[in-house]
Amino acid sequence: MQEIAPLPSVGRNDGKNRIMEYIFLKSEVREDGITIMTVSAPKSLNALNSTVLREIDDFVSNLDTQKTRVLIITGDGEKSFVAGADISEMVHLYEKEGYEFSKLGAIAFRKIELLPIPVIAAVNGFCLGGGCELAMACDFRYASSNAKFGQPEVGLGITPGFSGTYRLAKLIGQGYAKEMIYTGKAIRADEALRIGLVNAVYAPEELMERVIETAQKIVANAPLAIRYAKECINESYDMVAADAIELENRNFGKCFATEDQKAGMTAFLNKEKPSFKGC
Ligand code: CAA
Repeated sequence: MQEIAPLPSVGRNDGKNRIMEYIFLKSEVREDGITIMTVSAPKSLNALNSTVLREIDDFVSNLDTQKTRVLIITGDGEKSFVAGADISEMVHLYEKEGYEFSKLGAIAFRKIELLPIPVIAAVNGFCLGGGCELAMACDFRYASSNAKFGQPEVGLGITPGFSGTYRLAKLIGQGYAKEMIYTGKAIRADEALRIGLVNAVYAPEELMERVIETAQKIVANAPLAIRYAKECINESYDMVAADAIELENRNFGKCFATEDQKAGMTAFLNKEKPSFKGC
């Protein structure tokens, strides 16, 4: 995977701890193993400029996935998750820079997809272009009833650039993906639910509570088993059936080398609640 040079503004080390200082990201590391990363660029409805993309890359690259068991990604405010890549930056780009900008987003989003922990998008409002692509890099999405999804790029004279053509077609099928991308139309949350782009829709004030509830259910389960399951689901995307099944056989086997497998099954047989250690 190609490395991205971190921006000087992004992280520093005070000798003991790495200190994250971001311009466009806020984060909350909670006691219950859930971390919330919020994209915050209110003047542009949380649009993704190259600094935000580098910050996301840095954040994900340095996330402690032992402490954080579920990552939630959201946007600041109720109006917008992310309204796309930053058009005021892209307007000045030519072919080479366009390619590099696309790579920057694609690499950061691929790192989200490959995190060894589940990532949930809490989609609050506009989820357009690069915003929809960010949400699709997450494992699944819950939306607020005011969310709007779309890939409006062709109306700006460009294609989706942060792996939207790839992930949208995989997620909702080529027919719906082509319709959304060719027309550039925005769809409402209920339509996104119907075509499988999101898993659930809630009132805006309820959204984060519901996402956290689901995240807590995940945290209660065995982290290594979840990691292996995620690896199987991700990898089998691009595999023939025999390889995908073999990978599952191997990861299933690996679970039996963990203490959590013994703890989980013993607790079940003793009619107790299991307590998992992640080893
Ligand atoms: N880039 C830069 N600025 C943006 C932006 C974006 N993607 N989206 C919104 N903004 C800015 C607006 O320019 C405006 O700034 P000013 O106040 O300085 O004028 C501010 O955010 C508020 O936006 P609006 O006044 O337009 O708010 P609205 O409620 O009337 O409309 C909207 C909201 C429908 C989301 C509209 O802002 C919009 O259409 N935004 C662009 C959406 C878009 O095309 N996204 C795809 C970008 S391309 C892409 O993402 C490529 C890729 O795949 C990598």
